[in-house]
Amino acid sequence: MAQRTLARYLIEEQRNKGVITGDLKFLIEVVSRACQAISIAIGKGGLGGVLGEAGSDNVQGEAQKKLDVLSNEILLDANEWGGHLAAMASEEMDLPFTIPHRYPQGEYLLLFDPLDGSSNIDVDVSIGTIFSVLKCPDGADLSTPEASEAAFLQPGAAQVAAGYAVYGPTTVLVLTVGDGVAVFTLDREQGSFVLTQENVQIPADTAEFAINMANMRHWEAPVQRYVAEMQQGREGPLGKDYNMRWVGSMVADVHRIVTRGGIFMYPMDAKVRNKGGKLRLMYEANPMAFLVEQAGGAASTGNRRILDIEPERLHQRVAVILGSKNEVARVVAYHA
Ligand code: AHG
Ligand code: MN
Ligand code: MN
Repeated sequence: MAQRTLARYLIEEQRNKGVITGDLKFLIEVVSRACQAISIAIGKGGLGGVLGEAGSDNVQGEAQKKLDVLSNEILLDANEWGGHLAAMASEEMDLPFTIPHRYPQGEYLLLFDPLDGSSNIDVDVSIGTIFSVLKCPDGADLSTPEASEAAFLQPGAAQVAAGYAVYGPTTVLVLTVGDGVAVFTLDREQGSFVLTQENVQIPADTAEFAINMANMRHWEAPVQRYVAEMQQGREGPLGKDYNMRWVGSMVADVHRIVTRGGIFMYPMDAKVRNKGGKLRLMYEANPMAFLVEQAGGAASTGNRRILDIEPERLHQRVAVILGSKNEVARVVAYHA
């Protein structure tokens, strides 16, 4: 049988299942091509002059790397002209990008973290792109970037698609259109993403956790308790030995969990409390929560389901606890 490319998977979701519209199919194909372009740029590394600092700060006051800026531009350029979008928002841009008047406007909103794991760029560790798609509300004011912000403020449960690309030893694209989770691997010779796994299921139990242990003293009591119990291993209340992994790129940590289970936590802590958390709701938490739930896992702040949060601001941050269902349930129970 012919290889099932991303294009073919999307046609099937549209034609046979009626899960997506033609415009959403086109949108996802355009995003996947942008991810291929980012993958090629990353692959050049020091030869392509893409490493190092850009010399600017983003809206969150973080120093931008050249690849943060380049990836953002690749995604904007790829998506502005196709007629499928009403506006775009990015972790790296203060305000939304409205579609230039010379192009037709579509009905979708695209949000992205163009380059996730920036601290890993220069050390040749896996990095990625995360994206989320919403429907633009009817009658939304898109007359200015400022006015268009309101259209984006929808809970994660309203997402119509979400995905991420990991630029690692291989480049993979992991996607949900609300019909389970599928994994595509980039065939570099063909220049296309090929389906390599369908109906991904995250095991409900795990013995592997991911958290930045350097922040331990800042965590709240429930997370302190949970991590202490995991560290006690077989002799402790959880009755099994745990292993720890922390890549420092959310995409890579989440991809490991999507592949073999686990729990990922960037919980509320005293250091990030005044910002609301470390990770960004619209560009990181919501798309990953949608994917993880579609794969049978769970995603919570500790106090509530991430996908139920009504966003107040585009660049809002949030505590994130996601992955294997039973482990997430345990941490949530400790918060109750
Ligand atoms: P970004 O590179 O888009 O700013 O995101 C980095 C995030 C996330 O990918 C990762 O899980 C986390 O920050 C790492 O934080 P620490 O540096 O505290 O480990
Ligand atoms: Mn990120
Ligand atoms: Mn980023």
